[in-house]
Amino acid sequence: MENLSIIGLQWGDEGKGKIVDYHAGRFDGVARYNGGSNAGHTIVFGNRTYVFHLLPSGLLKRKRLFIGPGVVLDPITLKEELDLAKKEGIKIDLTIDGRCTLVSPLEKEMDAIIEKARGPKALGTTKRGIGPAYAMRALRVIPRAMDLGLGTFDLASAKALYSLFAKDIPDLTRWTESAREVLRGRIGDVGAAILELNASGKSVIFEGAQGVLLDLIHGTYPYVTGGHTLASYVPASLGIPAKSEGKVLGVAKAYTTRVGSGPFPTEISGRVADSMREIGKEYGATTGRPRRIGWFDLVAMKYAVRLNGVDEIALTKLDILTKVGEMKVCVAYRQNGREITEFSSALPFIDKVLPVYEDLQSFLGLELTRAKLPRAVDAFVEYLERELKVKVSLVSIGEERTATVERG
Ligand code: IMO
Ligand code: MG
Repeated sequence: MENLSIIGLQWGDEGKGKIVDYHAGRFDGVARYNGGSNAGHTIVFGNRTYVFHLLPSGLLKRKRLFIGPGVVLDPITLKEELDLAKKEGIKIDLTIDGRCTLVSPLEKEMDAIIEKARGPKALGTTKRGIGPAYAMRALRVIPRAMDLGLGTFDLASAKALYSLFAKDIPDLTRWTESAREVLRGRIGDVGAAILELNASGKSVIFEGAQGVLLDLIHGTYPYVTGGHTLASYVPASLGIPAKSEGKVLGVAKAYTTRVGSGPFPTEISGRVADSMREIGKEYGATTGRPRRIGWFDLVAMKYAVRLNGVDEIALTKLDILTKVGEMKVCVAYRQNGREITEFSSALPFIDKVLPVYEDLQSFLGLELTRAKLPRAVDAFVEYLERELKVKVSLVSIGEERTATVERG
C-alpha cells in the first residue's frame, strides 16, 4: 500500500487529528512533517479527549511514530506529552530526526516581543516560538536535536549568538537538561527509517499541521505560520524522494474557522456563528481562543486543491450543521463590482473582498447516522465533488472515531 499524506486545506483545525487516527490502523507508522507545538490535534476516543501538539496522531493505535527534520521541536512540550502518554499507559515508539530544529525559551520570548511590537497588527500567533525558530534556523543559530541529543551542543557559544537577539537571555540550563533527557535514545534518521519500512512493504501516514492558507509562501501572508504546510513539502521536509509521498488526502471542515488575525472572506458573526462555535467546540486546542467562524469557501478551497494536487477529501464536522437553520457556500468574491473566482488574483486585496453565496438546503434537524446520509447531506457532498473535481472519500459526522462514513 502507498504512503498517505494528510494535510489541512483551510486555516488549520480541520480535524486532521481525527482523520489520521481513523486511518492509522491500516498503516505501520505516522510521521509529523511540519510545524511545531502550535498545532493542536484532537482525538476523541471513548469518553476521553486527547490533544497532542507534537506527538503524531497515530499513538492511540500504537503505531511507530516519527518527528521529521522539518519540525520545530519544543522539547519541553514533548516531555509533557511523553509523560502524559506514560501516565495513560500508552507505550510510545518514537524516532526524532537529528536535524529537527529545537525551540528554546528564547524563541518563545521573541515571538511574544514581536507580536507586542506589531500592536493592532499582531498576527495572533500561538506564541510557541514557531516563526522565530524557523528564522533562527535560516540564520543558522539555533541548535538541532542531534546537537543536544548526541552531546555536541555548546551552551556558551549558543548564548553568545543568542545575545545578539535579546538583551536578557532566558536561563537555558534547565531547558538543555530537559532537551537532553527527552532526546536520549530517540534520535535517528526519519527519512531512512520510512524508506526502510516502505522497502519491507509497510506504509506510513504523513501528518500535516496547520493548513494551506497558513502556508508561509502561499497563504494569506503575513497572517500565516512560520513554516510550510503544502503536501509538496512532505517529502522534502521528511527527507524522502518526492515519489514516496503517496496519495494526498486533504481535510476540510464543512464550514470554515480561523484562529488568530488575518483576512477571512466568509467570516460571519452573530447568533449563527455563536451557536456553531459552541456546538462545534470551536476553541483553539492550543491556546483556548475562540475560533472565528464562517461559511465554506469554494474559491479558497479550489486554490487549496490546486496547490496540493489533492487526490481525495475528508469532509469533517457535518453534524454541526444539523443545528443551524442556514447553509451557504461562497462561490465567488466581489470587489469593486467585479466577481473573482481565482483566490490568488484576490490575494492583494483579500481583506476587502465580499463573499458571493449560493444558498443550499439547510441540514437543520437532520439525523446523521453511518447507515445512510440524508439526501441534503449527500447533495452537498456531491455538489462539492462536482465543483472541486475531487472525490470526498470520507465524511465525519461526530467527534468519535466511529462517527465516520467512508464513501465508496
Ligand atoms: P493545527 O495543526 C489553527 C495560526 C495561529 C496564527 C498563525 C501564526 O491544529 O491545524 P504561529 O504560532 O504558527 O506563528 O501562528 O497561525 N495557527 C493555527 N491555527 N490550527 C493550527 O494548527 C495552527 N497553527 C498555527 O493561530 O493565526
Ligand atoms: Mg489546531
